[in-house]
Amino acid sequence: MCGIAGYIGPRTGKDLRDLLIDELLGRVEYRGYDSAGVAFVDGANLSVVRAAGKVKELGGAIGDREIGTPFIAHTRWATHGPANEANAHPQTSCRGHVAVVHNGVIDNWKALRKALERRNHVFRSETDTEVLAHLIGEYLNGDPLEAVRSALSEVEGTFGIAVLFQDYPDLIVVARRGSSISIGLGDGELFVASDPRSFRSFTDRHVVLEDDQIAVVKLGQEELLIQDIDQVPVSVKVEQIELTVDEIEKGNHDTYMGKEICQQPDSLAQTLGGRITADGRVKLGGLEDHLDALRLAQYIILTAAGTSFYASMVGEILFQEVSGLPARAMNASELAGQKHPVFPEQTLAWALSQSGVTTDTLCAMKILAEMQIPTFGICNAVGQDIARTTQAGVYCRAGVETGVASTKAFTSQVAVLQLVSLYLRQLRGLPWDEGCQRHLSGLQAVPEIVRRIIDQREVIQHIAEPYRFATDFYFLGRGILYPVAMEGALKLKEVSYVHAEGYSMAGMKHGPIALIEPRFPTIVLVPKNDENYAHNLTNVQEIRARGGPVIAIATEGDEEIADLVDDVIFVPKVMYYLMPLVYVIPLQLFAYYIAKKLGRNVDQPRHLAKAVTVG
Ligand code: AGP
Repeated sequence: MCGIAGYIGPRTGKDLRDLLIDELLGRVEYRGYDSAGVAFVDGANLSVVRAAGKVKELGGAIGDREIGTPFIAHTRWATHGPANEANAHPQTSCRGHVAVVHNGVIDNWKALRKALERRNHVFRSETDTEVLAHLIGEYLNGDPLEAVRSALSEVEGTFGIAVLFQDYPDLIVVARRGSSISIGLGDGELFVASDPRSFRSFTDRHVVLEDDQIAVVKLGQEELLIQDIDQVPVSVKVEQIELTVDEIEKGNHDTYMGKEICQQPDSLAQTLGGRITADGRVKLGGLEDHLDALRLAQYIILTAAGTSFYASMVGEILFQEVSGLPARAMNASELAGQKHPVFPEQTLAWALSQSGVTTDTLCAMKILAEMQIPTFGICNAVGQDIARTTQAGVYCRAGVETGVASTKAFTSQVAVLQLVSLYLRQLRGLPWDEGCQRHLSGLQAVPEIVRRIIDQREVIQHIAEPYRFATDFYFLGRGILYPVAMEGALKLKEVSYVHAEGYSMAGMKHGPIALIEPRFPTIVLVPKNDENYAHNLTNVQEIRARGGPVIAIATEGDEEIADLVDDVIFVPKVMYYLMPLVYVIPLQLFAYYIAKKLGRNVDQPRHLAKAVTVG
């Protein structure tokens, strides 16, 4: 996923430069940050400045130079070609009279490039995007909109693009197929972005392009000129941006990840709010028009990627044990590649995603749709492709998550899965017993339990930091805590670049224990009220017997485990199904503090992007 930004307006000089670097491009940098660039009208020419590295490197490359408007800019997550200056966007036509920034993947770029080279076009990058600049340049003949439309008619794949023209220095042309593009309506100025948070500080009104729409962004127009790819005019729908300015700021935190970890008591309360009735039942308005499909389901598939996949693994256990339905969590990155998966009759699927745009998850959903399997969504970002593609769903309501490493979205996804599993139990007419009431009341108490853990974060920091020198970790969990062990390992890998492996507590002795030695710490999740507590203690002793340091996440007051391990982080006691919501918090903080101590950029870890919109 990449970040696109553009501007037309009266700003100049340092104000314009700061607008570009600190606001418009800086706020979409979470989408990818391998390289950055800007193209702007500079008198009679189109000037381009690009730099490998983060947006601040672009600022350095611009130096004291004046930039002009309109400008289009880009921060890249590399797909085709290494993250260097030559492959940075904007990419330009041979004559340099057309500049393009692009988010997405052009599937037929090689064929297009060969054809263009046969027509003597000279390429200077390894990107798929460059073919667009040459194509548009070739078609340009008096009408920029037509040139873009003609070029896009040859393109297969996805795009969100902004195009700048040397000979039309008062406009930007934008187009979209599969990668979001918004047009911000400011006071005497216009903005373009792949995510409205780019310009949210300057306006709360925008127009969101739909797939296969093209628009001319130009000051002084009565209204925007938007057409579909077949030249049919499209009515302009101005929308309110739901984001608040506070949501896109760090507040009194020095990182988004730190802010979002600490937001979890509130984000969880938001997730649960209004969804548990006074008489102790679950109410999910987004599902009420689909009760038959939900009731008829005899088998549940959950599919997602990364952290969301680990949440779906928790869901597999909840649907089986709470809803009484056979269930299977399938990694979307694997399901997307399966040619002929087989599912039983009356299968119903759930797709989980924070961003709502993950390509692997969308591809997995396409396979399920081709098999006529109804798919429901559990997403955090509103109105994105996954949410729009599912029959219905339940939004996480965790609020904007900017840190690339997902934290509050994970706990909100798990909280939604708690609600949905109980809701399905209700629908299927299974006994609503004291256990269900305890489950619901326990769930309502989770936000404050999480707050208690976060209030102790300095204790966790004190335990975590000495382990920053380790180069390998195991994270071990059993049952519903096995996915949490996987998630804890991913968090540490993502933000600290330290190798970590999540593994089944019980499975560890079947080989992986060979790696244990004093330099190789293991984090174990060992709740006192887990029916496998004794087995877990045995597994801990097997590690200690081989000299492996052990850090336990354990139940408050459990002195037995404390005597066995090197360090222990206590958490309040909760029932089995709710454990993932509580045990993941220390793991998020553990990863966060080690990464900070190692001097990592926890909000934008190397090689990553907030959402992976390529296959
Ligand atoms: C999580 O910390 C990672 N950033 C990554 O694994 C992420 O969970 C995955 O790419 C899925 O993203 P999604 O939830 O937006 O679909």
